[in-house]
Amino acid sequence: MAGESGGRRMTIERVEAYIESHRGEFLERLKELIRIPSVSAQPAHNADTRRAAEFVAADLRRSGLTVEVIETPGHPLVYAEGPARPGKPTLLVYGHYDVQPAEPLEPWLSPPFEPTERDGNLYARGATDDKGQMYTHCKAAEAWTAAGGGLPLNVKFLIEGEEEVGGANLEAFVAANRPKLACDFAVISDSSQFAPGIPAITYGLKGIAYFEMTVRGANRDLHSGTFGGAVANPLNALATILASLKGPDGKVAIEGFYDDVKPLADWERAEFAALPFSDDEFRRDLGVDTLAGEAGYTTLERKWARPTCDVHGLYGGYQGPGGKTVLPCFGGAKLSFRLVPDQDPAVIARLLRAHVARVAPPGVAVEINEYNSAPAVLVDAQGNKGIEAARRAVETAFGARPILIREGGTIPVVGLIKKELGVDTLLLGWGQNDDNLHGPNEKFSLDAFYRGIRASARLFDELSRI
Ligand code: BES
Ligand code: MN
Ligand code: MN
Repeated sequence: MAGESGGRRMTIERVEAYIESHRGEFLERLKELIRIPSVSAQPAHNADTRRAAEFVAADLRRSGLTVEVIETPGHPLVYAEGPARPGKPTLLVYGHYDVQPAEPLEPWLSPPFEPTERDGNLYARGATDDKGQMYTHCKAAEAWTAAGGGLPLNVKFLIEGEEEVGGANLEAFVAANRPKLACDFAVISDSSQFAPGIPAITYGLKGIAYFEMTVRGANRDLHSGTFGGAVANPLNALATILASLKGPDGKVAIEGFYDDVKPLADWERAEFAALPFSDDEFRRDLGVDTLAGEAGYTTLERKWARPTCDVHGLYGGYQGPGGKTVLPCFGGAKLSFRLVPDQDPAVIARLLRAHVARVAPPGVAVEINEYNSAPAVLVDAQGNKGIEAARRAVETAFGARPILIREGGTIPVVGLIKKELGVDTLLLGWGQNDDNLHGPNEKFSLDAFYRGIRASARLFDELSRI
C-alpha cells in the first residue's frame, strides 16, 4: 500500500511538473482560442464560432481523446472521451466556447479579441467566461496524458457553443444521449471564487425565466396633442405594467410568485453572515450611495438565494435628438426573473401572464414571448464525496480551503445534468466577482488559470480513487 501511494504521489508530481513547465505554452494556446470571436448571438460570427469548436476539438484530440464535432441546428457541440479506464469512475466536464457580444467597444482599454496581459490578468472577451476557465480542464487532461501515464479515470468532455444564447439544442442532445453522457461526477468551471484568496465551491445557482413584452396601441403613431388623452399610449401602459411587478419593499408583486420558494435554511443564513463581506465596500466599489433589494434579507442572501425581477432593455417612441410629440404605436421591454429552488420557470411564465392580464390598462394589446429559462439548482453538500474530493483538489492548488457558497448566475446545463443523468455537478469557479463577465474589460487572473489547471489535475486524481 505504501508503495502504491508513493507511486501515486510521484505520478501527480510528474503531472504537476508538466503543468509548471508548460505554463507559457498553455497561455499562448488560450490566447489563440480567445482571438477567435465566437459570439454565438451574432450570425456574422457563425464561422468564427465554428472555428472555436474546431480549435477545442483539435486541442482535445492532441491530448489523446477521441473527439466528435456534433452538428446541431445551431452551433456545434464538441464531445470527447478519454481512453476507457475500466473499473474507474467517470467524470463529465462541461464548458462553453461561445462568448457574449463585446459591445459596447468604447470602454475597452484593449481590443476585446486581442488578449492582453495587464497587472497579472488576461483581458479579453471570454477570458473568464468561459474560455479561460474551461481550458483549465483541457490542459489538465493534456498533462495527465503526457506526463501521468494517461488519464486516471474515464473522462468525457461536453463543450457547447450556445450557452450564452440559451439554445434548446443542448437540451435535446443531452436528453437523446443519456448512455453516452452517463457519468458518476460532473464538473464545471464557469463561476467565481468568493474573493481573492478565498476559493469556493458553489452548491447553488439561480435559475432564470426570460421574457420580451410588447405593447401595442393604435394602428399608427399619432400626434400627442391631437390624440393624447383620447387613446392609450403603449409606452405609458408599459411603464404601468413594469412598475406593478415590484412593491416598495423590493418584493415581486406577482400573486403566487413566492409560493414555491424554498426558504433559506438557518444554517445557510448563519454561514452567509459569517463570511467576510462588507456592504459598504460593495456599495462603494459600484459607485452607489445605497444598496437596494428585497426587505428582510442581507445582500448575500439577496444575491444568492432570493428571486429577483429585472428589466434589461426598453424600447419604443422617439430616441433621437430633441423632442417629438408623438403617441408611439408600440413599445417593448426585455425582462427576466432570477429563480431559486423550487420555482418552476413554466409556472412563473403563467403567473406573469395572469398578472399582466390583470394590470394592463385598457386600450393596449400586450404580447409576452418566452425566451430561455432554466430552473435553479441546489446541491446537498453534506457527505457529498465529489465535493470532498474537490475540496482537497482546490485546497492543494489554491493554497486555501475552499468555502461553500451559492451564486446568482445561471448555468442551464446543471439542471439538465441532474434531470437527465441524475448527477449533481461540482461547480468549481476560478473567476472573481469583478472579472467583468459580459461587460467591457472582461479579465481572468493568470494565477487562477494556472492554479485551475492544477486543481483540475488534482481533481482527476482524487475522483479516480473514490
Ligand atoms: N458563466 C455564466 C453564469 C455564472 C455567472 C455563474 C457568474 C455564476 C456566476 C454563464 O455563462 C451565463 O452567463 N449564464 C447566463 C444564462 C442565461 C443566458 C440563460 C446568465 O446567468 O445570465
Ligand atoms: Mn459562462
Ligand atoms: Mn456568460
